[in-house]
Amino acid sequence: MARTFETVGVVGLGTMGAGIAEVFARAGLSVIGVEADEAALDRGRGHLEGSTGKAVARGKLTTDQQQEILGRIVLTTSREDLADADLVIEAIPEVMEFKRGLFADLDRICKPSAVLATNTSSLSVTAIAATTSRPAQVIGMHFFNPAPIMKLVEVIHTVVTEDGLAADIADLARRLGKTPVTVGDRAGFVVNRLLLSYLNHACGLVESGRSTRDDIDAAMKLGVRFPMGPFTLLDLIGLDTSYEVCEVLFRESRDRRHAPAPVLRELVTAGLLGRKTGRGFYSYADGTPPTHETAARSAVSMAGIVGDGEDAAALLARFDAAGFKAVVAETSDLTPVAGADVVIALSDTPVVELAVRLPHPERLVGLHLVGDAVAEIASTVLTSDEAAAAAHDLMKVIGRTPVSCRDRAGLVVNALLYPYLNDAVRMLESGYSTVEDIDNAMRLGCGYPAGPFEMLDAIGLEKVRDGLRALYAEYREPSFAPAPLLDQLVTAGVPSIREHAG
Ligand SMILES: NC(=O)c1ccc[n+]([C@@H]2O[C@H](COP(=O)([O-])OP(=O)(O)OC[C@H]3O[C@@H](n4cnc5c(N)ncnc54)[C@H](O)[C@@H]3O)[C@@H](O)[C@H]2O)c1
Repeated sequence: MARTFETVGVVGLGTMGAGIAEVFARAGLSVIGVEADEAALDRGRGHLEGSTGKAVARGKLTTDQQQEILGRIVLTTSREDLADADLVIEAIPEVMEFKRGLFADLDRICKPSAVLATNTSSLSVTAIAATTSRPAQVIGMHFFNPAPIMKLVEVIHTVVTEDGLAADIADLARRLGKTPVTVGDRAGFVVNRLLLSYLNHACGLVESGRSTRDDIDAAMKLGVRFPMGPFTLLDLIGLDTSYEVCEVLFRESRDRRHAPAPVLRELVTAGLLGRKTGRGFYSYADGTPPTHETAARSAVSMAGIVGDGEDAAALLARFDAAGFKAVVAETSDLTPVAGADVVIALSDTPVVELAVRLPHPERLVGLHLVGDAVAEIASTVLTSDEAAAAAHDLMKVIGRTPVSCRDRAGLVVNALLYPYLNDAVRMLESGYSTVEDIDNAMRLGCGYPAGPFEMLDAIGLEKVRDGLRALYAEYREPSFAPAPLLDQLVTAGVPSIREHAG
């Protein structure tokens, strides 16, 4: 018979715990909130009153409803008060020793039928469960920040979790108005595993000089429509937390892409942890969010466009409309653009091969238009600063945000996006999760406009497979090699991974 949960304990009323307590109380459950001492309990009360108070101010709750919700939450500093709880969820700091000590205590205090849950982001639920005499009743219930708003809950079962418990916890999550995604106990679960690989990879691109913090953030935000760029997000998560999650991922996967980028270690060691300390990749000293704008500069008298498709004609029309003289050449014959001040080669792959065929190779840049707002501009080893600056300005004139980068496979966007999509395919292929759950997890947990499989279908499996092949050929990084499932779907002519595996 399915379990019912009416009284829920929440231990730790910090960032996450206070939000989790609020979520349960809003759904009509009785909540016992436990903090370490009176001062922390006061802070917890403050979080609860502040968060529900904001909802009242926004007209989302009436004062009566707020009082009802707060009235369902009993606050205490005594763990012993959890004796009658049906479920206790822990949200104390991410330190294994703290969690083990707490779970040993909860095991002693709570009634035998009670379920013990952890909100850990990266620690092993199995290792936490093993400190109790009831490992079959220990489970992960991973909320996202801010808990009252984010719709995703990852439910983590271990190899010893009793049958049916994960389904009962998933039902409870639905009762809270959340979408549950149930998975086994692997480092990072779904969201952090996919997300932190991508964020760490972005750090690597900056370290290798591929592009800059601002350009990468602009590319992913404006080009891919992610809610924010990777460095803004890293600052928000906290660089210490990000570093720690990468470490945990690496310890389990031994995949060097999970090894925390040295720049993360350096910033963490320097105490620059992101928003919470006022400085990380960005500085928040004046409290304003980072911006990426710079003013447009010089102009060019004649631009050359190299491209074989419709994009070249469309770009020519845009230049025309903006009052710039431009000529087009096909890649088979570059003569028409030989005299141009700047030569823009439309390509999502390296363009140095084209540059060396020109009398002025220093005038050529690669151009990859991403979505309708971003233009990646690739400088080869021969490109002059003047040509790069001119291309930069031309893109601004036609209303696109220029993103400068080196002439490397994948440039910025595809170099970051395709390995992320490949990781999702590998996760699917390993049987860890499903297409629908992975898509839901990334959409609801990260606020992405689409899940990785929705993105794969939209971009085209073959395009992503070929992009990964190019990345692999350039870097020989094993995890860039297209996942066998992706490769086989392309070979078999299957157009949609969601239809095939969904
Ligand atoms: N912050 C996030 O974005 C986020 C997201 C998902 C999961 N998590 C996980 O949630 C957990 C809590 O993270 P947080 O960001 O809320 O931390 P936090 O530091 O904001 O809050 C932790 C709270 O636990 C209290 N506490 C410490 N020891 C205690 C004890 N023995 N008994 C009772 N209370 C105790 C502290 O006083 C503090 O209020 C961690 O496991 C973290 O990995 C965090």
